[in-house]
Amino acid sequence: MISVVVRDYRPSDYRDILEIDKEAFAPQSAAYDMYIYLTYGSDVLVADAGRKVVGYVASMEMGSEAKIMSIAVKREFRGLGIGNRLLDEIIKRCREKGKSQLFLEVRVSNNIAQQLYKKKGFEIIDVIPAYYNDGEDAYVMALNLGGQ
Ligand SMILES: CC(C)(COP(=O)(O)OP(=O)(O)OC[C@H]1O[C@@H](n2cnc3c(N)ncnc32)[C@H](O)[C@@H]1OP(=O)(O)O)[C@@H](O)C(=O)NCCC(=O)NCCS
Repeated sequence: MISVVVRDYRPSDYRDILEIDKEAFAPQSAAYDMYIYLTYGSDVLVADAGRKVVGYVASMEMGSEAKIMSIAVKREFRGLGIGNRLLDEIIKRCREKGKSQLFLEVRVSNNIAQQLYKKKGFEIIDVIPAYYNDGEDAYVMALNLGGQ
């Protein structure tokens, strides 16, 4: 079993994260978006496997709420509980900050990610038609954190 530490992003993680992002979201990947997340104000947590980073979650505070901008795990490390751990940590931090809700958008076809979010208590609260560049709809999913 691989041992992974979830920790805050450091600038030296940048290349690993861009690589994970490209692998996870190509051909729709948007390195520019990642650049924005990493450079301006978003909270990024990484899963550090020792020699490299194998997953990340980027979130942003939006008033009393927080939004998950992106989450991905390197393909060969999926199914090992890393996505789960990244989400646990971001949820814990949002609770500590007193956030009322954590939300995100996910492709309606992305059953694996939806399963993960549902397992954490997220519920589908809305659908945004043609949210993605290729015309696919998005579900908005939200987790009530009880803060205000
Ligand atoms: C979504 C993603 C981050 C999950 O990361 P992961 O480390 O593989 O997830 P975990 O191993 O922690 O699995 C957590 C849960 O996800 C679901 N899941 C994971 N792999 C799955 C699979 N192959 N089939 C169905 N459900 C799956 C399960 O509910 C699982 O819980 P379980 O192990 O108790 O059954 C990863 O699949 C990924 O990077 N996908 C590509 C990028 C992406 O789609 N990001 C989400 C954009 S909104």
